Order: sequence, then C-alpha cells, then structure tokens
Amino acid sequence: MTQRILVTSALPYANGPIHLGHLVEYLQTDIWVRFQKLRGRRCIYLCADDTHGTAIMISARKEGVSEEDLIARMQKAHLDDFTGFDIEFDNYGSTNSEETRQICQEVWAALRKADLVVEKEVTQLYDPVAGTFLADRFVKGTCPYCKTPDQYGDNCESCGRTYGPSDLIDPKSTLSGATPELRSARHLFVSIEKLHGFLEQWTQSGSLQPEVANYLKGHFLNQPLLDWDISRPAPYFGFEIPDSPGNYWYVWFDAPIGYIGSTLQWCKRHGERLDDWWRNPQTEIHHFIGKDITYFHTLFWPAMLKTAGFNLPAKVHIHGFLTVNGQKMSKSRGTFVRAATYLKHLDPAYLRYYYASKLTGGVEDIDLNLDEFAAKVNADLVGNVVNLAARTAKFLAKTGLSPEYPDDGGLFAQAAADGDAIAAAYDEGDYNRAMRLVLAAGDRANQFIERSAPWNLAKDPGKARQLQDVSTIGLNLFRQLAIYLAPVLPRLARQTGELMNQPITGWDDAKTPLVGKPVRRYEHMMVRLRREQVDAMIEESREKEPAVETTPAAAQDSDAPLKAEPLVENYISIDEFAKVDLRIARIVAAEDVPEAKKLLKLTLSLGGDVRRTVFAGIKAAYKPEQLVGRLVVCVVNLAPRQMKFGLSEGMVLASGPGGSEVYLLSPDAGAKPGERIH
Ligand code: 2FM
Ligand code: ZN
Repeated sequence: MTQRILVTSALPYANGPIHLGHLVEYLQTDIWVRFQKLRGRRCIYLCADDTHGTAIMISARKEGVSEEDLIARMQKAHLDDFTGFDIEFDNYGSTNSEETRQICQEVWAALRKADLVVEKEVTQLYDPVAGTFLADRFVKGTCPYCKTPDQYGDNCESCGRTYGPSDLIDPKSTLSGATPELRSARHLFVSIEKLHGFLEQWTQSGSLQPEVANYLKGHFLNQPLLDWDISRPAPYFGFEIPDSPGNYWYVWFDAPIGYIGSTLQWCKRHGERLDDWWRNPQTEIHHFIGKDITYFHTLFWPAMLKTAGFNLPAKVHIHGFLTVNGQKMSKSRGTFVRAATYLKHLDPAYLRYYYASKLTGGVEDIDLNLDEFAAKVNADLVGNVVNLAARTAKFLAKTGLSPEYPDDGGLFAQAAADGDAIAAAYDEGDYNRAMRLVLAAGDRANQFIERSAPWNLAKDPGKARQLQDVSTIGLNLFRQLAIYLAPVLPRLARQTGELMNQPITGWDDAKTPLVGKPVRRYEHMMVRLRREQVDAMIEESREKEPAVETTPAAAQDSDAPLKAEPLVENYISIDEFAKVDLRIARIVAAEDVPEAKKLLKLTLSLGGDVRRTVFAGIKAAYKPEQLVGRLVVCVVNLAPRQMKFGLSEGMVLASGPGGSEVYLLSPDAGAKPGERIH
C-alpha cells in the first residue's frame, strides 16, 4: 500500500457555470476521496479553475472587465456551487497562478532538453477587426456539406460532419462579424511521436480501463502520433512562452499542469515538499475525467509527465456523459440545470446518492431519470435508511442506549462483515454495488424493526427494557449504514455522530456497536423529495424559446414534430418493418447526371467490395464533391429500377420537402458500411 494518494478532477473552464453534467465527475471524485480518507489513507483532492484561452479573453472583452476580474468571479461562483454540494477540495486553485506558471516552465525546459519541441508555420483564420486569431468556435458560417447556415467552425450541428473553419461557406467571426482572413504564424509543436514506444507500453500497463486502453491502441497508437500544437500567437490570455516572446502556451498545455500547480499551493500552505507528491513511488496519482478529454490525459499528459520526471498516473478514471430522461441535456427542455438552480430547490444529498447509485466505474453514460430520481431517493434514503433512525431514536432520548449490546440474531455482525465487500466496491469505483449492499443491510434491519414493533412496546411501561434493547439494536444498525454511506452522504454521517454523541471518524467504526451512551432528541435527518420540487427546478431552468422554431439548430433541440399532423395513420407490424433491408453505406463516388434535372449518380460501398449504384434526387441540395466519403442509410432491397441513365439499385434516405431542402440521414460515427439497421 502506498503512503500517499493524490486525486484530481478535470479543471472546469472559467467561462461557464457548473451544471448537473459536471457534477457527475466532481461527486464521483469527492465520494472516492472521502472513502479513502475514511479508510485512513493519506489522500488529497486538488482542483482549480481552467482559466486561459481565447474564450475567456473574449468574454472579458465583451463584459468590459479584465480577464483577472472575470476569472476571480467565476472561481468564487464555482467554489460556492461545489461547497453547496459538499464537494471538499484540499486545494482549489487557478491555472492563472504563479505556481502553475513555475511548473509550466519546468515542463517546458524538460521538453526542450529532450528535443521534443519543433516549430512550424500554421495558417489560421484571423479577425482583422478584433485583431486576433480565431479558435474554431469563434467562426460561424454555412456548413460545406449540408448547407445549414450558422454553424461553428469545427463541426455541423445539423449533419454532424467535422471540418476546419476555413471550409465554411461565407465564414464570419463571431467576435466582430468581420470576414476572417487566412494568416500564417509560427507555432510550437511537441513531437509526441518520439514517445510512441513509451505510450504504447504505458497505456497498456493497467492504469486505464480496458476499453480505453483498447480504444487508444486501435485508434491512435496504430499510427504515428501527430505533433501537438501548443502555442498561440498574441493576443491570447495565458502565459507567454519564456523563450518565444509573443507566443503563449495553448490552454490545453497549462490546464493539466494546473493539477501540479494546485498541489504546489497546497504544499506551501502545509509545509510539504512537492516532490513527495509528484516525484515519489510512494504516491499514487488518480485523475477523474470525462471520456471527451481522454486523448489529452492518456497520451499528451503522460508524455509530458514522463519527460519532466513526474509520477505517471496510477489510474485515469474515465466516466461517461450525463443524459437527462434519456436525452442530451437541453436548455429548451429545462434539463440543462445549473448547480445553483438545483440547490434552490433540492437537497444536495439526493443527487449525491442518486449519482452514486448509478456509477459503476465504467465509461458508459449515466442517465438522470427524473421519475426514478424521486422514487429512488424516497424509497432508499428516506424509506429504508433514515427510517431506521426515525423509528428508534425517539425511544432512547430519555434512557440512552442499553448498557450492553443486546442479542440481535447476528444482524450487526453480518453488516460488519459486509464492510469489506462494500469497501472493495467503493475502491473500484463501483458505487452502484456499494449502494446495493448497503440497502440490503438496511432491508434486514427494517425487517427486524417491523418484527419487533417498538411502537407497540412503547405503549406498555412493563416493556421499557425491551423497548430500549430493540431501539438500541435499530439505531446501531442505522449507524452502520450511515458509516458506509458517509462518503456519499457526509451530512447524514455528521448528524448521526451528533445524535449518538460519537462522531464517525473511520470505516472501522462500523465494527463495534455503541452502548450506554445518551442519545439526543431526534430531529428530521432527511425529508421526502416531492416531485413538484423537481418540476419547479426544471421550469426555472427552461430557456424560453420563440413560439415558432426558425433555425434548424433550434429545431434539432426540440423533439416536437414540425407540423401538427397526426404522426401515425397506419401502424405496421415489426415483421413488416423487418422486410425493409436498411443498411449503412458509404458514398465512394458521386457524379452529376447532366441529362437529369434532379439526379446525382451515387456509387455506394456496402462493406468489402460490395458496390451499388443509386440515382438520388438531391442535385439541388448537394454538390457531388460534398458527398464522397460520407455515410448514408440505404434501402438495399427496393426492387431495382431501370432508368434512362442506368439501373438504380436502391434508395438513399433523406428528409425535407425536396429541391434544395433535402437532408440526407447520417449515422453516428462508428457505424460501418454494410451493417443492417434495426
Ligand atoms: O474539458 C474541460 O472542461 C477542461 N477545462 C478540462 C481541463 S482538465 C485538465 F487538464 F486541466
Ligand atoms: Zn452540415
């Protein structure tokens, strides 16, 4: 067992508020850290605001404040949100700190020394009015593929294709509205390919979840790793590169270094040595991150750590995204809920518990189903766990706990023995399993209370001793659960300590029952969650939209059918549907059919060397060159049709009224030509 554990969560950007999606990770990490501390491990939890980059610079300009003022305000707001959810950092810093700058310089010097830095010319869009180079998100224009207007410079919200900002049709800077120009600048790159061998070995060495290790092997490490562009020319809000004046480290260079910067702040406050925490085999580093930033944390970051001689992560714990009621969080549906809004309506313990019950330590997405949320909190926390205290503590206010622990038929011993399995589940990040084990112990305890009916014993003064014994058992069984739940429900653990005049200080407290102690007057520990509270929170989060949807992007966010027509006139059976053979296909060639007004000739690949020709009426909507390479959905068992220009062997699916308003359907990335759709 190592002497120290250092834990981080991803640093939140300083340009937006914390929302329920972020909280999956901060709660997941906080629970893990609290668990380690409760087990007696020396563990620190570090985080910081991620403050650099163009977005912050622009927001500050728009508000007419300095970047420093803006990030200071955001840091306070973030900390308030985290505190409101009982997320307890040992240090919460900022990447815009002297400590982070110092470590950046150290890492940079090591990269230079290892000869990993190269300089290359980069051509990028530049806003001549705002006087700045433009990150992809600051350019908008018409999608070069599907022609949807008002799309960002990196990908299209309508067709999902990715591209570069200079591919947009009629690009405009979102800062000034000016048409951007292409300009060249020298950028600095880190050649991480030189560490390919090391990364191949490290990514497969057990620090990553197996699916992540495989993904990296199959998608990145099977080819040369691209040089990483880590500099941006002025103006940029960040740290100027000491040996390259006028250039700044790109935000993603200093963001993870912020983990070490935050540690250094903590070390200074506590008189500790940074090297004990970051350059010592007796320290384990654990990063908790979302799957979207896997690449940075599993390839770039280990490459930098290795080069600068810091510890490599013992484990990168990667989680999935949050959906609400099975869908992406949405402002129009009111499911994009800010942490602060949640706290106005609901107890943070509800969400802490609900997320814990959903987290398994895997990378799959987790769903916050609002009906289930209310039902689970009420059944598990209020109905099962807290109910044990509510039904027994009040009978002990006068007498205190029995002087000796009575015979409970082995219930306490059984729950004490469960401690190891529950601990193992927490340690592996499988909080779902931990919660199930705790609830099972709660069920056994509640059955005991039902059988013993202390409320009946209380009616008979002759049964006072028996009442004290039954209540002593019930309250001790409750306390065991409160100890096991302490990482998830720290407030409940504290209240339990107060109620029983014995603070909960360690996991092993669950091994020994309390006896002969006074018990305080019972006060409600948790109240039932009312569905109206959830509804009020959603209502407050709903962003009012114009009555009529106008832009495709907005329409995409709302699931309402566009016209108020009955959706279904004739139902078909699943067997009838199965008769339609729908397949994923890739367009490998597309050509104009000059004699036909509406048609393009598409050659489709359906996997291997299977090819089909399809004539599609999409000429007014797409240029042939936009189509080559994209995936579409094809009906392959439509009877072939002989046309003037050749045989059409299927149909490509699209929506829209026709003419230039035709929209091809695109499968999500990952679908493969030839796969059947069902
Ligand atoms: O994706 C994000 O929100 C980034 N701000 C995370 C940074 S994590 C770390 F590298 F600092
Ligand atoms: Zn598009």
